[in-house]
Amino acid sequence: MNVLLGVGVLGSLSGFLGTVLAYLWPLRSGAATSDLLRGVGGEPLLPSAIGTNQGIVARNDLGKILVLRRPNGEFVGMLATCTHLGCTVAWNPQDEQVECPCHGARYNLLGEVLRGPARDPLSRVDIIIDESGLRARPSA
Ligand code: FES
Repeated sequence: MNVLLGVGVLGSLSGFLGTVLAYLWPLRSGAATSDLLRGVGGEPLLPSAIGTNQGIVARNDLGKILVLRRPNGEFVGMLATCTHLGCTVAWNPQDEQVECPCHGARYNLLGEVLRGPARDPLSRVDIIIDESGLRARPSA
């Protein structure tokens, strides 16, 4: 029971910390157009930075992108800005859902709303792996 409680607390804290870091991480003005995903320090996001069933919020010219690595190794991406009031969402690996720490909206792996107050889905992006790192482009 204590382990489950601890995992839940850690999951909540990681979502909160991700939101704080995303808020404190300003856009660079004048940056060149790029679909290359970058981490908090501006470094390219490498596939090895994301563990199995983990999610990271990175950034490129599309904005904040939530990148997930599924147990089969597939990368899944979606815009990380909640469609309710714009908070940054985070991956909850225990529930395997995307959650918003602000008002509790939940989304599935396709970005579809599972629980409000959000009404609109998160836009999916395609994640591309190349030698520079991970890239995100709007899904066709
Ligand atoms: Fe996400 Fe309100 S901003 S639920």
